[in-house]
Amino acid sequence: MKRFIVTALLTFALLTTPAVTAATVASPSSSLQRKFITSEDGTKIYAEAIGDSRNPAVVFVHGLGCSVVHFKKQFEDARLRSSVYLIAYDMRGHGRSDGPLDAEAYESVRYAQDLKAVIDNFGVVRPFVAGWSLGALVPSDVVAAYGPSFISGVVILGFGLGPDANLMEIVTTPAIRNTMGGFFSTDLVVYRQSSLDFSKGLYAPNFQVALEEQQRFVGGMLMMHHEAFANSANRLPILEPITAARKTLPFLVIVGAQDAAINSTAVRSYMTGNGFNMEFHELSGVGHSAFYEAPEKTNRLIGQFVSKYA
Ligand SMILES: *[C@@H]1O[C@H](CO)[C@@H](O)[C@H](O)[C@H]1NC(C)=O
Repeated sequence: MKRFIVTALLTFALLTTPAVTAATVASPSSSLQRKFITSEDGTKIYAEAIGDSRNPAVVFVHGLGCSVVHFKKQFEDARLRSSVYLIAYDMRGHGRSDGPLDAEAYESVRYAQDLKAVIDNFGVVRPFVAGWSLGALVPSDVVAAYGPSFISGVVILGFGLGPDANLMEIVTTPAIRNTMGGFFSTDLVVYRQSSLDFSKGLYAPNFQVALEEQQRFVGGMLMMHHEAFANSANRLPILEPITAARKTLPFLVIVGAQDAAINSTAVRSYMTGNGFNMEFHELSGVGHSAFYEAPEKTNRLIGQFVSKYA
């Protein structure tokens, strides 16, 4: 019932150095910084940042099975980079971050602590948090742990938020809930089919997905430890605090009209009905990955939102 299985994509786990590691590339502004950052419980989190740290920051949080690599079209957008300090990190259990195996390591507060460790390390306060799919629960984790004034605003990509424990049933489609059942199978044939179906469902039906992108997703899923994956998919959010902040925090919601996983109509009526202070955009011809399928539009909307509320 309360399984908070959702969406997303991939990578590998490589860890080195203890605690905070230095940036790899020298010059301060537009070069990519990459770090392993130690979170409150010792979990090492892989993070990247690009842009000028004096600009308002946006922290991108990927979805289930994914990693920072999926935000390539944001990190490479020179225009967005000129006005926004872009940060992304691999959620615990994903990509290059540590993947603890016990379920307690996937409690809401741990997700909040990971984001805090990342922004503290990059010297950022009150960032905007942009969560895609399952990653859209992270702004609610952060508000639950540190209060709404800890962030400047929320960007929701391919998801919806509200107070109900059955949020997943409200915002997702029955089709995606079926597909995701196969993620928990230990039968390789079933698992493979499920991840392939899911990878296709990340885009609008007519969108030409690069093979590399599909490989990233399926490969990233497969590289995750089964327990880390299951704990991530089943994580529980704490939704009341962010709902209580629905009028004080600004929300930008971007969903695709052809999202196979998320019902954009349901998201709009649910969030409107709950009184969210929301700028809502339903992109036609776009599926679950607006930031990948329609990066120019999505990046422009994010840039405008940030300059309005920073
Ligand atoms: C989306 O949600 C609306 C109600 O908000 C419902 O009428 C519609 O049938 C749903 N569509 C799908 C594809 O689930």
